[in-house]
Amino acid sequence: MTEITETGSLSARPASEGAVGIELDEVSKVYPGQPVPAVERFSMTIEPGELVMLVGPSGCGKTTTMKMINRIIEPSSGAIRIDGRDVLSLNPNELRRHIGYVIQQIGLFPHLTIAENIATVPRLLGWSKQRTAERVEELLTTVQLDPGVFAKRYPRQLSGGQQQRVGVARALAADPPVMLMDEPFGATDPITREKLQAEFLRLQAEIGKTIIFVTHDFEEAIRLGDRIAVLSERSRIEQFDTPANILAAPANDYVSSFIGQGAALKRLALIPVVDAKLGQPTGIDGSASVDAAASLRDAIDLLVLTGAERVDVSDAGRVVGSINHAAISAALGGVAPRIRERG
Ligand SMILES: Nc1ncnc2c1ncn2[C@@H]1O[C@H](COP(=O)(O)OP(=O)(O)OP(=O)(O)O)[C@@H](O)[C@H]1O
Ligand SMILES: [Mg+2]
Repeated sequence: MTEITETGSLSARPASEGAVGIELDEVSKVYPGQPVPAVERFSMTIEPGELVMLVGPSGCGKTTTMKMINRIIEPSSGAIRIDGRDVLSLNPNELRRHIGYVIQQIGLFPHLTIAENIATVPRLLGWSKQRTAERVEELLTTVQLDPGVFAKRYPRQLSGGQQQRVGVARALAADPPVMLMDEPFGATDPITREKLQAEFLRLQAEIGKTIIFVTHDFEEAIRLGDRIAVLSERSRIEQFDTPANILAAPANDYVSSFIGQGAALKRLALIPVVDAKLGQPTGIDGSASVDAAASLRDAIDLLVLTGAERVDVSDAGRVVGSINHAAISAALGGVAPRIRERG
């Protein structure tokens, strides 16, 4: 089974049935008339069912890299394989029907209803009306848009965040094994974005697709990604590792500058309270407690808020121990002394 941890990251997610791997081998793109390549010898292996985040500054080549995978842009050189098959040997139209794609500017067809937008690929694949209609309804529900309210509307009658959900639903329509998502939540305010991210994690836990996800929001990359590739100019990979490893050991100054301030706090958000060495319960009746499945960041939050030296940790309503600053630092691999067990 697939699980989402309370901290919001995907844990121990097995590749779903039918998930496929993606391999890029020394892929380059030189746009006509450009003196330097937009992407230069990009190599990466993505495991079946993995969610890889591409993070990098504007213009570094993220969209170009992504669009070469479904051949909206033809690579100048190199090889790309999906499920071991060379995509350059496949019919591009056929290929695109098997890769869900959420483009950077949402790109819904303005003259088609929401239902018709989502039905685009099923229609191309020749699905029956009945099957298509059922799928559209299912997907709208999945992205938490009431089909009764939204199916017959046009894109301009939706908010930016709602349009982005439709974009995601459209990409999922024919249940493709691979999804390419280019800043799918880019046009939303922070609160909507966080909601969409949470929904997306829940969805991915169910569907377990192989996903390449572009963002320039490092927080988003940490929250969603199994692995993150930090890119610089020409899609050069500065580091490719799990969020926790990148935060704990940035490969160079460039990566550090991308992480920005507060790396320790960001790491805390990835570690559940139960991973810390807990002390004895405080024994104070009715004192504040943090859930064992919550993150160490939540624990810090409670410590700061209450001003207490330690707070209880509860599991299913039962106090199972307590946690303090030293235990939290120790869990980060910091130099804090081990907490002393009381009693
Ligand atoms: N059709 C094109 N012709 C020439 N140059 C292009 C073309 N498309 C993109 N470029 C250039 O290639 C580089 C990479 O562009 P790309 O769109 O891949 O960047 P990006 O990382 O997705 O940026 P952003 O975060 O702003 O979306 C940029 O310098 C861009 O100006
Ligand atoms: Mg882009």
